[in-house]
This record gives sequence, C-alpha cells and structure tokens, in this order.
Amino acid sequence: MPTIIDGKELAKKIRANLKIECEELNTKGIKAKLAVIMVGEDQASKVYVRNKSKACDDVGIEYEEYLLDENITQKDLINLINKLNKEKTINGILLQSPIPANLDINEAFRTIIPEKDVDGFNPVNVGRLVLDQDTFVSCTPFGIMKMFDEYKIDLSGKNVVILGRSNIVGKPLIHCCLNRNATVTVCHSKTQNIKQITQNADVLISAVGKAHFVSADMIKDNSIIIDVGINRLENGKITGDVDFENVKDKVEFITPVPGGVGPMTIAMLMNNLIKATKRQNGMID
Ligand code: GUN
Repeated sequence: MPTIIDGKELAKKIRANLKIECEELNTKGIKAKLAVIMVGEDQASKVYVRNKSKACDDVGIEYEEYLLDENITQKDLINLINKLNKEKTINGILLQSPIPANLDINEAFRTIIPEKDVDGFNPVNVGRLVLDQDTFVSCTPFGIMKMFDEYKIDLSGKNVVILGRSNIVGKPLIHCCLNRNATVTVCHSKTQNIKQITQNADVLISAVGKAHFVSADMIKDNSIIIDVGINRLENGKITGDVDFENVKDKVEFITPVPGGVGPMTIAMLMNNLIKATKRQNGMID
C-alpha cells in the first residue's frame, strides 16, 4: 500500500506553529509584513495571490498588495521594489510571476534585496543555495524537502530524477537534493528517452505542467513520486502531472494534487517571511 503524503495536513501543522511565533513577535511589538506585487491580470496568479493573502491572515502576518497595470514601465516597477526595499515595516517582498513579457523579470528579482527575498529568487540567495549555505530557499522546493523530513525520506545515495528545469522549481530543486547527497538527473523538453531515465528513479519529482505526463510504465516499483503540477482540466478540475490512479499502487510514497505540494509552497512562504522578520529584528543570525 502506498503512503499518500498529506501536504495539506503538514502545511496546517507548520502554519499553526508559525502562528505561535507570530504571536510571540507581536508581544515584542513586532509585526511581520509581506508585500506582494502582481502585474497584469493572469488568472492563475490571481488564485495563487488570493491563497497567499488568506494564509497570511491565518498566520497573523500583515499583507499589502500592489496590483499594477500591465502597461507599467520597467522603471516604475523597479522604483516600487526599491521603495519597498527601504520601507522598514515591510519584511518580505514577493513579485508574482509571470509578468508581461516586455518587462525584465530577472532585473526585478535581483532588485529585491536578499534580506527581503522570501521567494529565494535573488541571485545572491540562489548562489547561497548552490553553495549549501543558509538562505531563503524558494518555496516549492523547500516545501518538498519538508515533506521528505516529515516522512523520514532520506535522499542520500538515491537516484532523484527531476522533470522540468524552471528557475522557480527545477533548478533550485537540483541543489536541494544534491545538498542531501542525492544523485540528481534533470530532464527537460529536449531530453531524449525520458522513460529510460525515469524508470531508474528512486525519487521522481515532476514539474512539467502537463496533465497525466507521468504514466505507470515510466516509474520504478516502490519509488517515491512528488507531483508539482497544477493543471486545470476542461471540466474545471485540478490535476497534477502524474496519472495518480494508475501510478499509486506501484509506489511507496506519492503526493496527491490537490493537497500535496501546493499547500506546502504557501506554508514555506510564511516560514520564510517569519525568518526574514526575525533576522531584520536581530533575533537570529
Ligand atoms: N509563480 C508561480 N509560482 C510562483 C512562486 O512560487 N512565486 C512567485 N513569485 N511567483 C510564482
């Protein structure tokens, strides 16, 4: 029987602990606050941002939203980030991606100062992750590592195969797994014979964004399957990258969608924000 990794329940537990930390900060007169910037009207982003604001509310984190017109100039976007960088009451800044293609998201991410970069996208924080130094780890990979901790899954010596090489998920995941002594292989849209590679995966992490991309014949018996995909079907239902129903009986552990990685991503954002707040107030190194 497979163990279904319950991301929803674990995220709830983490958020309850963060709520206590938040209350302790309040007793010291410290209020944790997140600023979220969204540019344009991306529908999926609206849902993500709404979920982030609800989570902040739940944990007791103050939340400020900047909804910018899709025609905003790069200069105005950078000016806003610089203003938020200097604002003492703001502890973390999140620029929701995607943003319109005419804007330079890389410049925007590197403008968010590393101390307030709760998404872990500033190249300084990415570099620290690569060097296995303390940093803000981007929220989805960090959430997956917390799941491994909770379910006592040790990556040392395991073949981890990552499907997808995005800056947000695939690339930071490589280093999270490498830092835990896994042997890491990354597959992407140009990879040949993906099935041959995935069939050797002790741990398969899929972040490709294609419904049912991972089929039962692609996986190794008794492996661990982590599904990062959030795909909307024509009937409106959300499904992952993995053909869950046909895969689940072959595996040792598997994450569902919804209720797997998604809630963990948001819990880790809250975690990073509390850490940023404590650090900015000299409570941790
Ligand atoms: N777009 C999709 N996922 C994310 C995320 O984790 N952070 C940000 N900033 N944008 C995203």
